[in-house]
Amino acid sequence: TGMFTYDPGFMSTAACESAITYIDGDKGELLYRGYPIEQLAENCDYLDTCHLLLKGELPDAKERDGFHKLVMNHTMVHEQMQFFLRGFRRDAHPMAVLTGLVGGMSAFYHDSTDIHNPEHRDIAAIRLIAKMPTLVAMAYKYGVGQPFMYPQNDLSYAGNFLRMMFGTPCEEYKVSPVLEKALDRIFILHADHEQNASTSTVRLCGSSGTNPFAAIAAGVACLWGPAHGGANEAALNMLEDIQKMGGVAKVGEFVSKVKDKNSNVKLMGFGHRVYKNYDPRAKLMQETCNEVLAELGLENDPLFALAKSLEKIALEDDYFVQRKLYPNVDFYSGIVQRAIGIPVKLFTGIFALARTVGWIAQLNEMIGDADYKIGRPRQLYTGPVRRDIK
Ligand code: CMC
Repeated sequence: TGMFTYDPGFMSTAACESAITYIDGDKGELLYRGYPIEQLAENCDYLDTCHLLLKGELPDAKERDGFHKLVMNHTMVHEQMQFFLRGFRRDAHPMAVLTGLVGGMSAFYHDSTDIHNPEHRDIAAIRLIAKMPTLVAMAYKYGVGQPFMYPQNDLSYAGNFLRMMFGTPCEEYKVSPVLEKALDRIFILHADHEQNASTSTVRLCGSSGTNPFAAIAAGVACLWGPAHGGANEAALNMLEDIQKMGGVAKVGEFVSKVKDKNSNVKLMGFGHRVYKNYDPRAKLMQETCNEVLAELGLENDPLFALAKSLEKIALEDDYFVQRKLYPNVDFYSGIVQRAIGIPVKLFTGIFALARTVGWIAQLNEMIGDADYKIGRPRQLYTGPVRRDIK
């Protein structure tokens, strides 16, 4: 039984070839289709980024217009889906609701369920990207007991999402350009990250030939875990705990606890399997955090001050320096989302919304390769040798 390479956690196994996303963990570099994440965040919006990830190139002006219109034309979900949603308890976790709704889309859109048909895959891709914000906002509205807001397609992708989240039918909702840009940036920064756990899940699930909605629902389910998409929630809870302990004055004490190997306390939002340098997304997120807090008059937000103080102390401390532990994207994204008014429980749902395009691009890349095989890992068997029932 020793014929196979044993590599739990895929620490040294490349499971596929991919031309989509490149990470240099030592340099702290992230490229989508060759473009640095900093340039994309500065010059493009999320739908441009979707076009890039799906089709390999940024859109020219005409393609941009066409792609934006196409996506925004598909934002409405089948009216029957709200009755499906209404079957959940109002206090259901949004990720439970999302896993169900995304998987359920395969029961509503029969003309885009054949994963081997490129036209089906194209339309499924557009539907998923377009409808994810609608579904996330519906899950939120249902939880707070407010009416669902139908999408408004002349708004931007992020602006429409803000309106579906925070607007009501009682008055006109004014989209704040600063919040719209901040949310759009969160979407760009989370759009893809090569073969992480949820993306690998989508590939494995899709490799059986299941329909695209089912494969993406598997990604949503995987992302839910606290070691993956749930980390921003954990980082924010940690900051709130330190705040309760006494805030900035207690940072030194908290860092000592993190360094004590018997304490089991981690600095959430720090460290990464691949980045052994500053996560480039964390830098951009810190910038956005400054802008959003200024826009909302929250410059003195104690959690932001706390985060900056924690970061400063950690970056100078031998424990973190030696282990190459730097802030990751989740260190600041929770503060931004909280300031926008997004409840902590929905953070991972926002991540899922943004990552959907990455999952689809990776799924298409795999299925589009005529030589792809069903994913089927082997094992090293450790159970009893053959024996007989007496
Ligand atoms: N705080 C304190 N010590 C840490 C931390 C941390 N956040 N992260 C790693 N270490 C220590 C760890 O204890 C180990 O020390 P030693 O060598 O003395 O045993 C050393 O650094 C190496 O860590 P590791 O756990 O072997 O590294 P890993 O690649 O297996 O884990 C990680 C990466 C992200 C799971 C881990 O850094 C972590 O748990 N961070 C906090 C949670 C977090 O912020 N996760 C978000 C990841 S980015 C978003 C996403 O992928 O969805």
